[in-house]
Amino acid sequence: MTDAAARPSPFFHERVLWVRHWTDSLFSFATTRNEAFRFRSGEFVMIGLPPAEGEKPILRAYSIASPMWAEELEFYSIKVPDGPLTSKLQMIQPGDEILVGKKPTGTLVLDALKGGERLFLIGSGTGLAPWLSVARDPDTWSRFGQVIVVHSVRNVADLAYRELFESGLADDPLVGDEAPGRLVYYPTVTREPFRTQGRITERIRSGELFRDLGMQGCFDPARDRVMLCGSMAMIKETAELIEACGLKEGSNAEPGDYVLERAFVG
Ligand SMILES: Cc1cc2nc3c(=O)[nH]c(=O)nc-3n(C[C@H](O)[C@H](O)[C@H](O)COP(=O)(O)OP(=O)(O)OC[C@H]3O[C@@H](n4cnc5c(N)ncnc54)[C@H](O)[C@@H]3O)c2cc1C
Ligand SMILES: NC(=O)c1ccc[n+]([C@@H]2O[C@H](COP(=O)([O-])OP(=O)(O)OC[C@H]3O[C@@H](n4cnc5c(N)ncnc54)[C@H](OP(=O)(O)O)[C@@H]3O)[C@@H](O)[C@H]2O)c1
Repeated sequence: MTDAAARPSPFFHERVLWVRHWTDSLFSFATTRNEAFRFRSGEFVMIGLPPAEGEKPILRAYSIASPMWAEELEFYSIKVPDGPLTSKLQMIQPGDEILVGKKPTGTLVLDALKGGERLFLIGSGTGLAPWLSVARDPDTWSRFGQVIVVHSVRNVADLAYRELFESGLADDPLVGDEAPGRLVYYPTVTREPFRTQGRITERIRSGELFRDLGMQGCFDPARDRVMLCGSMAMIKETAELIEACGLKEGSNAEPGDYVLERAFVG
């Protein structure tokens, strides 16, 4: 036996259970979950496809979109036409194999936030993925009275999971009793007409977000906690606006008022 064969694999070898294509550039899928795989809702993990003989797998970071208590692992993905991973990943079918790294990590976790009353989950594009995990975790609802999911996208068709959030998560097996009436879904669309239009940064700056939610014109450090996920530019600008309201960034080591993570390099 060679050394390589004796070494334990750094991956769990999972099977695709279902695939849902939302648009030409967005899809979701779920896989089986190894019993030994533990993660905290909101964390990300490296995933990939099994490589050809003698090659190394192409791995990319993915937020786990399912909560830590779920039996399946769910992912929400972009399709980059010439992307090394997603040009192939978008073709997966039920039964196909997916490599899932054994070391999930990340800062978009409840542990990195101090207690509060309202939790804002702000994401652009596929930056919605970690909120699918956090919002479907019962611990979120025992720690916060209200959860506001803000999803900023280019086109209305990019509002994946819209029905799930518009239903208040009423059919969810884990939080279906707690979330309805306490979940606020706040989608914004930037490149075509919609009831709430414009970048989330603009809606915070103008105070529209707060007016729409019946709040005073800023995040309140005494009550509000925020998680941010999306492109680098969106996160940077939004974090500046949040800091201007007096909220302080948190981490796993030192919980704070808000946390952030970029969903892709760009
Ligand atoms: C911590 C972390 C978590 C992530 N979680 C997710 C996730 O849950 N879902 C997901 O789809 N991607 C996620 N990504 C991005 C992901 O790792 C890959 O970049 C993506 O799957 C594309 O891989 P690729 O090999 O096809 O193309 P890459 O070579 O990785 O990317 C090519 C280009 O496509 C653009 N791009 C890549 N990913 C995205 C994206 N998600 N949205 C918009 N533009 C993008 C960027 O301009 C990038 O330079 C995450 C990245 C990080 C760092
Ligand atoms: N329908 C589509 O064709 C489609 C859908 C998804 C992804 N894609 C492809 O995927 C890539 C990334 O697109 P994406 O839509 O997922 O991500 P994205 O470009 O980050 O856009 C997502 C949302 O974030 C907003 N945004 C961008 N920069 C911001 C900033 N600095 N502050 C505040 N908000 C900001 C965008 O507004 P603006 O519109 O004002 O930029 C948009 O509403 C692109 O290459 C795109 O071609 C295409």
